[in-house]
Amino acid sequence: MDRKISLTGIKPTGNLHIGNYFGAIKPALELSKTYDARYFIADYHALNSMKEPAGLHASIREVAAGWLAGGLDPERVIFYRQSSIPEVFELTTMIMAFTAKGLMNRAHAYKASVAENNEKGDDPDAGINMGLFTYPVLMAADIILFDSDVVPVGKDQVQHIEMAQDIAQAVNANYKQQVLKVPQAVTSEDTAVVPGLDGRKMSKSYGNTVPLFAPENQLHKCIMRIVTNSQGVEAPKDPDSSQIFLLYRLFASQEEQAALAARYRAGGMGWGEAKEELFRVVNRELGPIRERFNAIISDPEGLDRILAAGAEKARPIAAGVVKRFRKAAGID
Ligand code: ADP
Ligand code: TRP
Repeated sequence: MDRKISLTGIKPTGNLHIGNYFGAIKPALELSKTYDARYFIADYHALNSMKEPAGLHASIREVAAGWLAGGLDPERVIFYRQSSIPEVFELTTMIMAFTAKGLMNRAHAYKASVAENNEKGDDPDAGINMGLFTYPVLMAADIILFDSDVVPVGKDQVQHIEMAQDIAQAVNANYKQQVLKVPQAVTSEDTAVVPGLDGRKMSKSYGNTVPLFAPENQLHKCIMRIVTNSQGVEAPKDPDSSQIFLLYRLFASQEEQAALAARYRAGGMGWGEAKEELFRVVNRELGPIRERFNAIISDPEGLDRILAAGAEKARPIAAGVVKRFRKAAGID
């Protein structure tokens, strides 16, 4: 039997951080061991917010190199840029005809922008482009185009996958046959939300990130900036309510976690030392990834070749799904 298909994309809108790594890259690569994986850079999604060409160009390469440095094997995973697959945009147009406008009105990201405008007393549509409004349709096309079974994502993206399900089901119901595969979201419980330096969700929009590829000294500085309470060195500390410990858990073994939790509870360890312990395990895991990243990013032609080869493999699959849909629709 054919293996099931796992697909996901990352939007190149800035520097990758450890939330992206644990929430998106790592779980997706884990799935690529047992699924046929198709992973991509969602560069047209990024265009909605990235209007500065040099920044977008750099971010596309950074995300691509990030996937590879994290361990993506382009021989086993079909790895490409969304913008290299014209069928994505053809399918987007087709599924638009099956997408209720009301569904888009309910999308969290769009609603948040409207709410922000209302709060400021601005026009509700201020600063909202059609790319933002129709973002879930393009994303549904990304997913449906490759007959995806599962889509590994962070919790914030689950609503988009549900919309892709609604859209695929609307198409199938209309033609009374399974034209499009209905995808499922996969989120991993442990790392569903990686906390940021200030305790909120780590996100580049909050400026509370630990960058994935920062040089060692910057990484150290960043960890030293974590906000703590004023408990002194001698005070016993609760690991489970500590920002530092929550991050430590992502990088440390079970034994290390148990040992350090005991030291928190016993007292005698200050926040400075807790941060040094955190830095040690973070740097242990990210050091080798950073080295691979630096090697990949310094060979842009090699990187572009890998992405072009991925697009070559992806396009016939995409063309097959579009053809199937066109035939069902009577546009053949
Ligand atoms: P950001 O919030 O920094 O703008 P994105 O929205 O570009 O990040 O997220 C890219 C991917 O990384 C998505 O799959 C998202 O779910 C995941 N992700 C981002 N931040 C986190 C986090 N703090 N914890 C877990 N996953 C995250
Ligand atoms: N919207 C996703 C994000 O912001 C990125 C994305 C675009 C995506 N297309 C996708 C994720 C298809 C999974 C599947 O993180």
